[in-house]
Amino acid sequence: MAYSEKVMDHFANPRNVGEMENADGVGEVGNPKCGDIMKMYIKVDDDVITDVSFKTFGCGAAIATSSMATELVKGHTIEEALQLTNKAVMEALDGLPPVKVHCSVLAEQAIKAAVSDYYERKGIDPKDVVGEIPEPIECHFEEN
Ligand code: FES
Repeated sequence: MAYSEKVMDHFANPRNVGEMENADGVGEVGNPKCGDIMKMYIKVDDDVITDVSFKTFGCGAAIATSSMATELVKGHTIEEALQLTNKAVMEALDGLPPVKVHCSVLAEQAIKAAVSDYYERKGIDPKDVVGEIPEPIECHFEEN
């Protein structure tokens, strides 16, 4: 299985790693099939994600996609962050092998879950803004 240089770079040197104290929103998602877990923290100021960090207990592709996802939403508005798809994360990483596509879905879900938590803390029903968080897609972990 071949990984792009960008995937290897974000796996070896992940950006924005770690827990965040006093986060405004925290989202945790997991893929029940492979057992990988991704936790995303956001700091929000005036609808802009001013800071973001993550902790991923998972495969290399999950780490690389979380790292890239944080880079893609940092400094952007919540509205822009909610438009981030797993496809956009994969494209930014110059692609992922087909069996690893589900790892990028976790990144999209984690951002949405963190934004949902942000709205919940403000007493706003996140479903109205965030919509449904996509379900985990089939994990091909065993076939790798
Ligand atoms: Fe990468 Fe499932 S998240 S193997």
